[in-house]
Amino acid sequence: MTDIRPKQGKSVFIRTYGCQMNVYDSERMAGLLKPLGYSLADAPDAADLVILNTCHIREKAAEKVYSDLGRLKKLKFAREGAGAEMKIAVAGCVAQAEGEEITRRAPVVDMVVGPQAYHRLPELIARAARGKGDVLDTDFAVEEKFDRLAERQAEGPTAFLTIQEGCDKFCTFCVVPYTRGQEVSRNVDAIVAEARSLASQGVREITLLGQNVNAWRSAPPAGVSEEAWGLGELCRHLARIDGLERIRFTTSHPRDMDDGLIAAFAEEEKLMPYLHLPVQAGSDKILKAMNRGHTAEHYLRLIERIRAARPDLAISGDFIVGFPSETNEDFEETLALVEAIGYASAYSFKYSRRPGTPGAAMPKQVAEDEKDDRLARLQALLERQRQAFNSARIGEILPVLFEKTGRMDGQIIGRSPYLQSVHVSAPQSMLGQIAKVKIEGVTPNALAGALLTRDEAAA
Ligand code: 5AD
Ligand code: SF4
Repeated sequence: MTDIRPKQGKSVFIRTYGCQMNVYDSERMAGLLKPLGYSLADAPDAADLVILNTCHIREKAAEKVYSDLGRLKKLKFAREGAGAEMKIAVAGCVAQAEGEEITRRAPVVDMVVGPQAYHRLPELIARAARGKGDVLDTDFAVEEKFDRLAERQAEGPTAFLTIQEGCDKFCTFCVVPYTRGQEVSRNVDAIVAEARSLASQGVREITLLGQNVNAWRSAPPAGVSEEAWGLGELCRHLARIDGLERIRFTTSHPRDMDDGLIAAFAEEEKLMPYLHLPVQAGSDKILKAMNRGHTAEHYLRLIERIRAARPDLAISGDFIVGFPSETNEDFEETLALVEAIGYASAYSFKYSRRPGTPGAAMPKQVAEDEKDDRLARLQALLERQRQAFNSARIGEILPVLFEKTGRMDGQIIGRSPYLQSVHVSAPQSMLGQIAKVKIEGVTPNALAGALLTRDEAAA
């Protein structure tokens, strides 16, 4: 008979692909497995359990997972040859999208678990140990997942906190609405409880996560008011938690930027002046084909309004070049929009055809070399803007939250309110604290500065 009781001294290796939501989910899976005696391994070779927490956003994502599984198969057989075991689980969006196909193509997989079923991992592991064949759990039931996950263990002064999952927007290039399901918001009480617990463990900064984080809506906490709350109200409420000094959120959709959230940028100091608000393209024709539900003008006016509320706001975005039917003129409109906004940072991608999405079946697909050219031009412009934004900070005094030690002796690294890395010479005892730094220079990927002296800080 197989002993399915949790054993001490087991190890799990988790490989995380893709976005911050997955980083968060991996952390939570690790937290869930800890009470079962699993510690984290740095490599898959000697792990009792390997979890691939997959992402499906770009082309060939599933193929990459299958080729990783091919390599794992060898490790698993080697381990079994030595009389040990290695269970393999595929989690995340590829698990959701591929389902049973995974165990059919890769019989080496013991468990397939969708993004909404992580809380059932212990049960799945026990079933796999009983040898009941492959275990598949890809049902959508987000609220249940959140409720059942183990209490968070904070690591360091910053943490992610998922408050929303899924997407109802159906951009025609994107798989998320199919893999992560419909928009679901977590309720206020659960979010506040998690934020409080993180703050009590020394977390100073929380980043609220969701595929469409600003679509978050919930009934307010008991006795507060009758109206449903949006993200702005939530941020203000979380800002009252003692010890919590900074709040961020990502990723937002232009259609869900409501007045309450814009007002929070003006009035809530703990809400950091950084906004990731993807626009994807600058041509109205392409925005329409993408089913974005907004025009370039709408986006520009929106940014104007948010900047009026918070003039120093750093704007970040996502862009796709070479969406089907994008002409050179359409692409020029993307460049013009970027010029008009002035981004502090951005992510840009070549359009990749995702089977099952409307974009994949559209005529007038753009040639790969054309996409390469456009991406290079766009990235050159975005990089110039990023450097300009960073250089403009020279001479400013910024509060920096110190997170880790640097590579140089005596150096520590933190984040500015604008999410820039800031390198400073300072004692390690400053880690986890916020202190004022005079910015003196820039490197390609960071700012460099000096802590204010006591007199300067007092002045
Ligand atoms: N091709 C290229 N980029 C994509 N993204 C999502 N789907 C695709 C695709 N099919 C990009 C979008 C999105 C980011 C997370 O990934 O810019 O905002
Ligand atoms: Fe994908 Fe669009 Fe939803 Fe973002 S808003 S997750 S790009 S469908």
